Amino acid sequence: MLPTSLASAAKSRHHPAMSDVPAFGAPARRLFQLEDGAIYLNHGSYGATPKAVTLAQRRWQDRLEAEPSRFMEREFRPGLRVAAERLSAHLGVSGRSIAMVENATQAVNAILRSFGFAPGDEILITDQTYNAVKNTVRWVASRSGAKVVEVALPFPAFSEDSLVQAFAAGLSAKTRVAVIDHVTSPTALVLPVARMVAAARQAGAKTLVDGAHAPGMLPVDLPTIGADWYTGNCHKWLFAPKGCAFLWAADAVRDDLHPTVISHGYGQGFVAEFDWVGTRDASPQLALPDALAFMERFGVDRIRTHNHEMAVEAGRRLAEAWDTEVGAPPALTGSMITVRLPDGLGATQPEALELRRRLLDERRIQVPINALAGGLWARVSAQIYTQRPEIDALAEAVLVERRNAA
Ligand SMILES: Cc1ncc(COP(=O)(O)O)c(C=O)c1O
Repeated sequence: MLPTSLASAAKSRHHPAMSDVPAFGAPARRLFQLEDGAIYLNHGSYGATPKAVTLAQRRWQDRLEAEPSRFMEREFRPGLRVAAERLSAHLGVSGRSIAMVENATQAVNAILRSFGFAPGDEILITDQTYNAVKNTVRWVASRSGAKVVEVALPFPAFSEDSLVQAFAAGLSAKTRVAVIDHVTSPTALVLPVARMVAAARQAGAKTLVDGAHAPGMLPVDLPTIGADWYTGNCHKWLFAPKGCAFLWAADAVRDDLHPTVISHGYGQGFVAEFDWVGTRDASPQLALPDALAFMERFGVDRIRTHNHEMAVEAGRRLAEAWDTEVGAPPALTGSMITVRLPDGLGATQPEALELRRRLLDERRIQVPINALAGGLWARVSAQIYTQRPEIDALAEAVLVERRNAA
């Protein structure tokens, strides 16, 4: 079963003419710069940029250096607006409501540091909130006297209802902002964000959805989600170069939102403030239209559905091989899945990191491993370049590790 959001998109799947589109797997891998012989199962952390998109990024850099003043003064901001407009069509909102930023961390900082928290206010996060975001929340709270409330989400997760209930238990009349992940980082759960946003809104809280992983992995229809702020990375599942993300703000909160770097645009509105945050190389953001074109060539829904099905299948194969379990059912899974490793390999984060290091250094398998729920869990990303034998190689490598540890 697909997450609700993927299922509705799959119905309206439109395929481009397929004759000139490379097949998924080995042919698609040749379109990327990934090292030969390496097994790359961690698209989720930093993405991987197709060669064609890197070339587009370099063309922007060449244009900049050919006439720096003309580029910075005339071409750069219109280019950013083209990228925002192009992206906005995928998000169901206007380009004017989108700021291009370098990453989700920057966006979360801009939102939380612009918000006027007072002593006694509460900021709601979960135990699965991304650590950099947790730190930002803690920092903002420590400076304003606000209180951080952290709720534990069920993991392994079985149902949307249990996730919504666990989240809602942390809401109170004092909650000013609730931070909700669209896809959790350590556990790869697709959270029922629209339901969580509705619960927070009912409690009178504003909602910041951290969709770092969502664009390209899930359909992101911002009006349906209904949050006050939403940020997503384009350098993960949208194939943009690293340093490309967006920040969307609803009309009612947009004027009070400022970038973490105040520059020439201050006081001239959302777009002017975010588009100019000092001299910089914005080629990752300027190349976003090429990344979107790359995806559209394959079919955006087709990629999402392929990656989802492959993640679910990888989870099934690994859990079978290791006689363990997955962290989420298909309805709560996007393009990444967590799978519990067999007992006997440790249960602490240092042991998780050491095993991850060995898999990389000794077997060239790149896969995050985390200590969760009393055991070690691997988080496997499926992407158009992933091949089934790579999943089998991970299954076998872990079994060898287990035998060596016995
Ligand atoms: C849920 C979540 N939020 C925020 C981030 C931060 O992304 P970035 O480093 O691009 O700012 C990540 C990165 O993996 C993430 O998983």
